Amino acid sequence: MAYETIIVEVEDHVAVIRLNRPDALNALNTQLLSELADALREADVNEKVRCIILTGSSKAFAAGADIKEMSEKSFVDVFLADLFGNEATAAARVRKPVIAAVAGYALGGGCELAMMCDFIIAADNAKFGQPEINLGVVAGIGGTQRLTRAVGKSKSMDMHLTGRFMDAEEAERAGLVSRVVPAKSLMDEAQAAAGKIAEKSRLTAMAVKEAVNRSFETTLSEGTLFERRLFHAMFATDDQKEGMGAFLEKRAAQFRDE
Ligand code: HXC
Repeated sequence: MAYETIIVEVEDHVAVIRLNRPDALNALNTQLLSELADALREADVNEKVRCIILTGSSKAFAAGADIKEMSEKSFVDVFLADLFGNEATAAARVRKPVIAAVAGYALGGGCELAMMCDFIIAADNAKFGQPEINLGVVAGIGGTQRLTRAVGKSKSMDMHLTGRFMDAEEAERAGLVSRVVPAKSLMDEAQAAAGKIAEKSRLTAMAVKEAVNRSFETTLSEGTLFERRLFHAMFATDDQKEGMGAFLEKRAAQFRDE
C-alpha cells in the first residue's frame, strides 16, 4: 500500500512509522488512521521487524482526531460507522513492542494513540492533553480509561475536565511517560531503546507484553497466575536455554526466536 499520510522505514529490525500531515499537526483523519492500521499490521507480521517506533514531527505527535472531518457528523453517522471503533485502535492490538516517541502536541486522539503504545518516550517539548471537553465531546479511543490507569483518577479527571495540557516533566512525574529526553535526541533515544529490544528473543518480548497488558484486565491473583504460566512456557523455548546458558558461559546471548 502506498501511503500519503504516514512514512514507514524499516532499518536494523526497527520499523519507524511517522505520522505525516504537517499542515494539520498530524490530525488523525480517516485516511491516516487507515494507513496507520495497515502499516502496523504489516510491521507486526514482517519477519524483519522486531520493534516498532511510532512518532510524529518535532511540533506534533498528533493534535487529535481531525475536527474538520468529524464536525458535521450526526449521531447516526458515527454510531452506524462505529467511528474510531476499529482502525483507530490498531496500535493496541500489535503483538510486537511499540514505542511512542512523542515531541510537541499529543492531544485528544493523539494522546490516546500514544497511550496505546507500550511505552512513551517524550521530548522535553511534549505536551499531553485530553481537551475533547472543549469541543463538546469526551475522549473516544480510550483516553478516560488509559489515562486514568496511567496517572490515577485525580490527575485524569483534572486533564479531562479542564482540558489543560501536561508538559513532559509533569507527564514523567505522573507515570504517563517512561522518560523525557532533549527534543533533538528523541529519535536517537527511541532508536537506542528499540535496538535493545530488538536484541531480545521476540518470543519473550511478546510474552512480556501479554503479561503486562493482562494486568489491566484482571485481578492480581489471576494476573500473577497468567504470568507464572507464561514463565513456565518459556522453558519450552530454545531461547530460554540460550539466555540462561549464555549467562553461565559469560557471553552475549544469541536469540533465534525458537
Ligand atoms: C483538524 C487541526 C487539528 C485537529 C490542529 N489542526 N489540530 N485540524 N483537527 N485536531 C490544524 C489547524 O486547524 C491549523 O490548520 C493547523 O493544524 C495548525 O494549527 P493551529 O491551531 O494554527 O496551531 P497552533 O496555534 O500552534 O495551536 C496548536 C494546538 C491547536 C494547540 C494543537 O491546533 C489545537 O488546539 N488543536 C486542537 C486540539 C484538540 O482539540 N484535539 C482533540 C481533538 S478531538 P489551518 O488550516 O486552520 O491553518 C479528539 C477526539 C478523540 O481527538 C476521539 C478519538 C480519535
